[in-house]
Amino acid sequence: MTATPVVDVRGLSKRFGALLAVDDVSFTILRGEVFGLLGPNGSGKTTAIRMLCGLMTPSAGSASVAGADVAREPDAVKARIGYMSQAFGLYRDLTVNENLAFYGGVYELGARRPERAAWARQAMRLTEFGDRLAGVLSGGQRQRLALACAMIHAPRVVFLDEPTAGVDPAARRLFWTILRERAAEGVTMIVTTHYMDEAERFDRLVFLSRGRVKAQGTPAEVKRQFGEGMSLEDIFVSLQEHEA
Ligand SMILES: Nc1ncnc2c1ncn2[C@@H]1O[C@H](COP(=O)(O)OP(=O)(O)O)[C@@H](O)[C@H]1O
Ligand SMILES: [Mg+2]
Repeated sequence: MTATPVVDVRGLSKRFGALLAVDDVSFTILRGEVFGLLGPNGSGKTTAIRMLCGLMTPSAGSASVAGADVAREPDAVKARIGYMSQAFGLYRDLTVNENLAFYGGVYELGARRPERAAWARQAMRLTEFGDRLAGVLSGGQRQRLALACAMIHAPRVVFLDEPTAGVDPAARRLFWTILRERAAEGVTMIVTTHYMDEAERFDRLVFLSRGRVKAQGTPAEVKRQFGEGMSLEDIFVSLQEHEA
């Protein structure tokens, strides 16, 4: 069996004036992988994700996501992916069910809407909270609702930008269980985080610094590339100092 990458990034760059925010980045991701995009603040993670979601045009290079080219077919990319942004994009004055119905409408699910909403409540452990306003949910519940909305249309690839920021450890652990379940179903997950204890959980990852790839591979491979005895936390801190 040949493993065709679901995400194929080749020499991707994004320039903002004098700043090369993403600089000649290449990597591939396989179906069902939970893939980490790591690096200090300002290293280019969000910019890379925006390009891979078809939301921002690359300055150079190319990328295909779920079989569509991000620059030439951004609408096809948007239809095949889910995007959970740093801001979550929930309506706090709508209930859990109303948020799910709203996103089901955005993705034009039509008659599939109730079935997909039921799936999402079950998959994201929200069955008890359907009638609760998003604004009164705990951080962990809100995070799971954001993932539910991002996956309501059964995307093949999901991008999660700092999904666990500000969420307590127990909720983070449940969130990771849910990510693993979805990956086992064949959904590919691309996740940014600055929690290095979570980074050990990725199947593979890339470390960015100043827009460039500094290392990539499994957590064990990345640690070997940086030297004997280096933890992912040590690597992160050394890149952070380089960035400053
Ligand atoms: N729209 C933009 N215009 C100009 N500069 C930007 C824009 N978006 C991001 N940047 C800059 O690009 C760099 C990378 O930002 P970003 O991708 O948000 O990094 P990260 O998500 O890793 O924190 C930063 O220096 C940031 O200030
Ligand atoms: Mg960011």
